[in-house]
Amino acid sequence: MPRLAFIGAGRMASAMVDGLLAQGVCQPSEITCIGGGGSSAERLVQRTGINGASDLAGALAGADVVVLAFKPQHLASADPRLAELTAGKVVVSVLAAKTLARLSTVFPRARALVRSMPNTPAAIGAGVTGWCSQHPLSPDDRGVIVRLFGAIGHELELPEGQIDALMAVSGCGPAFVFEFTAALRDAGVAAGLSRDQASLLALETVLGAARLMARTRAEPEDLRNQVTSPNGTTFAGLQHLATRDFRGMMRKTVLAAKARSEELSRDG
Ligand SMILES: NC(=O)c1ccc[n+]([C@@H]2O[C@H](COP(=O)([O-])OP(=O)(O)OC[C@H]3O[C@@H](n4cnc5c(N)ncnc54)[C@H](OP(=O)(O)O)[C@@H]3O)[C@@H](O)[C@H]2O)c1
Repeated sequence: MPRLAFIGAGRMASAMVDGLLAQGVCQPSEITCIGGGGSSAERLVQRTGINGASDLAGALAGADVVVLAFKPQHLASADPRLAELTAGKVVVSVLAAKTLARLSTVFPRARALVRSMPNTPAAIGAGVTGWCSQHPLSPDDRGVIVRLFGAIGHELELPEGQIDALMAVSGCGPAFVFEFTAALRDAGVAAGLSRDQASLLALETVLGAARLMARTRAEPEDLRNQVTSPNGTTFAGLQHLATRDFRGMMRKTVLAAKARSEELSRDG
């Protein structure tokens, strides 16, 4: 793996560094980070043993791959020297809603430009990251990107035109699952359980069902049908979901998130 530099050393950078080190993809000495004047970079350096840099030129010197892991709103005030400092390097952005066209104005001389959207389970190596590149990547650069995102879970290359849809499903999806879990917990309390009991049952049910889907690779509908006998209890609950158009509601939820993502990307 070529040497990496992270600009931004917060949660997403930490997740990626943790994954890369845990999987032995990189040695700590092969990664450098720089923060934005707060304490995140120092904490990451102390915790993981990677290199810290005090200035941008020092952070990027010797790195072949530069990962942008700061907040999207900081792109507008990015150091103008970045154009030169990233010349000939691979630049990988995890910045939400920053298009390849926008990124190319800040990194015009990058060897390759990659836009990506990880999700929060990346923090425990269980993320899914969608990514696209400005131009087709060389086999070596592609290998680097696959290993980089593979360190925090699954990765999926897709055309940039589908990034807003991916954002709505896997980027926002964890929050939808958290909300579903909370709703299941509250419904459990309404049905007569204590909050502690309902919390445990809701969490373990979501976790167990997700693991069952992942382990069996069966269609969710098939697994659902396996536990639904005609006129049984699950059937009664599912009937209620169907009459309230649960699937239609999910579709509208995802389309609303996608529309907002498109809006934010347009605002650049
Ligand atoms: N967290 C997620 O699950 C997730 C998921 C998908 C995408 N992302 C993307 O990942 C990016 C980072 O998110 P995060 O959750 O890791 O944020 P975070 O934990 O708040 O970290 C932000 C980092 O940016 C640094 N920073 C602040 N101002 C800066 C500047 N002007 N120039 C360079 N660096 C600066 C901060 O350094 P100091 O501490 O020194 O201020 C900190 O290291 C965002 O663009 C977000 O869209 C995150």
